[in-house]
Amino acid sequence: MLVLSLVIVMYLMPPKSFNIYTAPIMILVLVPTIMALVNGAPFVPTPMEAVEKILELAEIKKGEKIYDIGCGDGRMVYLAAKEYGANATGFELSPLVYCLARIRHFFWRSKAKIRFANFKAKNLSDADVIVCYLLPDTLARLQEKLDRELKKGARVVSYAFPVGDWKPSHKEERTAERNIAPIWVYVKQ
Ligand SMILES: C[S@@+](CC[C@H](N)C(=O)[O-])C[C@H]1O[C@@H](n2cnc3c(N)ncnc32)[C@H](O)[C@@H]1O
Repeated sequence: MLVLSLVIVMYLMPPKSFNIYTAPIMILVLVPTIMALVNGAPFVPTPMEAVEKILELAEIKKGEKIYDIGCGDGRMVYLAAKEYGANATGFELSPLVYCLARIRHFFWRSKAKIRFANFKAKNLSDADVIVCYLLPDTLARLQEKLDRELKKGARVVSYAFPVGDWKPSHKEERTAERNIAPIWVYVKQ
């Protein structure tokens, strides 16, 4: 991955603009972006209005365990901990985005935890709620893991794209007054 990124960066650089500092800086930006794209989704923050709706639909009770699998700057877990008293953890794979989330959570005095991790390698069996904003292909592949690991009654709330061919218990449609993407809610049977 690193070598591939380096080759792409070098190829894209205009002639003579390349120096020894350019490659590491570009790699720092490019590698995480490619990694996130290959592994799940690029960093695109969910609008706050949608975050509030997602958490409301998740019906989180105090102390429940919630994971944001691909947490970006950690806005969902921050609000879940602050507003709902959830035991909230976000997994983030991209190093730069992870650092951003840690810095923001430090200044926000957040009770949520941010972990530098690939959610695919995490066991999600103790989750009461999973929230996610990932690409359709990733969600389709995720379905099997969630089927295997999630406990009965666990909720999954997915922003913008459905989870494979799962049947939602509720779908929040885009409305004229709220310009946010649809939200799918699932309850593990
Ligand atoms: C579309 S953004 C959503 C961010 C955040 N959940 C939000 O709603 O604002 C997806 C995030 O997932 C991260 N990501 C993608 N694949 C991942 C993986 N396998 N493990 C952990 N994080 C991942 C990306 O780096 C990116 O920050």
